[in-house]
Amino acid sequence: METPDSDSSVPPPHVLIFPFPIQGHMNCMLYLSEMLVYSGFHITLLLTDHNLSLLRNNSSSSNNNNNSHPSSLPNIPRLRVLSIPDCLPADHPRNLDGWVELLDSLKTNACPLYKSLLLDLCKMDDVDADGFPAVTCVIADGILPFMIDASEEVGVPAIAFRTASASSLWIYYCIPQLIQSGEVPFRDGADWDEPINSIPGMESFLRRRDLPSPCRLAKNPEDKVLQLLATCTAHSERTRGLILNTLETLESISLEQIRAHMPTTYAIGPLHEMVRAYRSQNNVCAHDKSVSLWHQDCTCMTWLDQQPHRSVIYVSYGSVAVMTRESLIEFWIALVNSGEHFLWVVRSDLLRGEEWTNIWDSLSLEVRKGTEERGCIVSWVPQVEVLAHPAVGCFLTHSGWNSTLESIVGGVPMLCWPFAVDQQINSRLVGEVWRIGLDMKDACDKTTIEKMVRAAMNGETASEIRKNAHELAKMVKNSVVEGGSSFENFQRLIEHIKSLCK
Ligand code: UDX
Repeated sequence: METPDSDSSVPPPHVLIFPFPIQGHMNCMLYLSEMLVYSGFHITLLLTDHNLSLLRNNSSSSNNNNNSHPSSLPNIPRLRVLSIPDCLPADHPRNLDGWVELLDSLKTNACPLYKSLLLDLCKMDDVDADGFPAVTCVIADGILPFMIDASEEVGVPAIAFRTASASSLWIYYCIPQLIQSGEVPFRDGADWDEPINSIPGMESFLRRRDLPSPCRLAKNPEDKVLQLLATCTAHSERTRGLILNTLETLESISLEQIRAHMPTTYAIGPLHEMVRAYRSQNNVCAHDKSVSLWHQDCTCMTWLDQQPHRSVIYVSYGSVAVMTRESLIEFWIALVNSGEHFLWVVRSDLLRGEEWTNIWDSLSLEVRKGTEERGCIVSWVPQVEVLAHPAVGCFLTHSGWNSTLESIVGGVPMLCWPFAVDQQINSRLVGEVWRIGLDMKDACDKTTIEKMVRAAMNGETASEIRKNAHELAKMVKNSVVEGGSSFENFQRLIEHIKSLCK
């Protein structure tokens, strides 16, 4: 790993990192921050006031720590956290129900505040009260193109970071072709299993139903979300670089296509494994938790310790999915009827307008008994640790990109139930391309879920996907150590940032 520039007259790069304020985006951009600190950089991680206060609440409820640095963030020298308001009411849903308004508010209301903060941070001659030099580069979430433009307007070069898979970005980039070919929006009565032909490199496996949800849901070519994703992806072409939390071996075809348009693309993932490998090789003792907007319930680890090897199906729908009561009940009955042990993350805001605990009374006695005997339901877990636990045999996942990478690194096969945005294409990669799991998209009835859970946990199919997952994990882990593609790409990224900071 690089060290700070030996020429002491050159101030070390100071990078401001600004993730879109939801859990999945914050996690991997925090890992990137940590990696850059290890490379000698100063890092300011910019969060929203809302999220920072959630982190502070979580840290004070977990350890009564009065330190102003939230303890759920790693306490690392040269890494600090600042925040700006997202300018939305405290009770605005910051999940899939409210993310478009969140984006709008960041653009209209928060962006001017960001610009004036950045002006203050980049115009210093010396160091500030925290001992940080002037900001010399910005890495902003690629779905915030207006923040990238604002940075450049202030005179700070900006790089885009997209947290989703390269394959989903490649599809977003091709939205104009999908529209031109008439494949999107779907015509009435379209066969969802029909192949999609206008995405170069994906002709052999991509079906209509595997397209990201904005393509599936658009009613007309001007659809707001469809155009928003097309526009912010095309915007990355005009930035100083594009960082992706993926790796060459997993997504070589999409990366090759993306690089034909955006040559300075750096595939440096999986970042959580990069950080872990760096810490363990260098005896860095940093606390190993991701930033958590929900309080992590670590009692599940004790529960896992008591379960037999590979006997548990771990179930989670990520950080932003919102479900109906009916769907949740189908899952509940299926999990119990499968006879498997299950660890189930049910977030406090998973159900729209209702506490999930209300459902308990409407369940049959048999389902309640099965839950008590074989289930453990919690609101949030340390997911990377859960996926590394030997009791976990399979991950029933919504196929968010972080969860997918975390499962791959853990060597845990997946049962995919994609929900929205990039998840539909991610689950297709898992089921059809890498063959490390089963794709259950568009099914939500108890009979199918039970059948799929059984198939993913036991029998011939289960052995095959487990074997493939194990092999893929080895390959992926090799990419983050010296000589591996992500490791080498990361070194190139460091040089690129330094060249921008001169
Ligand atoms: C969505 C998209 O689907 C994803 O692909 C995109 O890149 C980010 O936005 P999200 O629902 O947040 O993602 O899922 P995911 O990307 O999987 O991220 C969830 C994160 O929360 C993971 O890093 C996971 O480890 C963490 N998590 C989840 C926990 O730490 N504990 C939990 O109980 C559940």
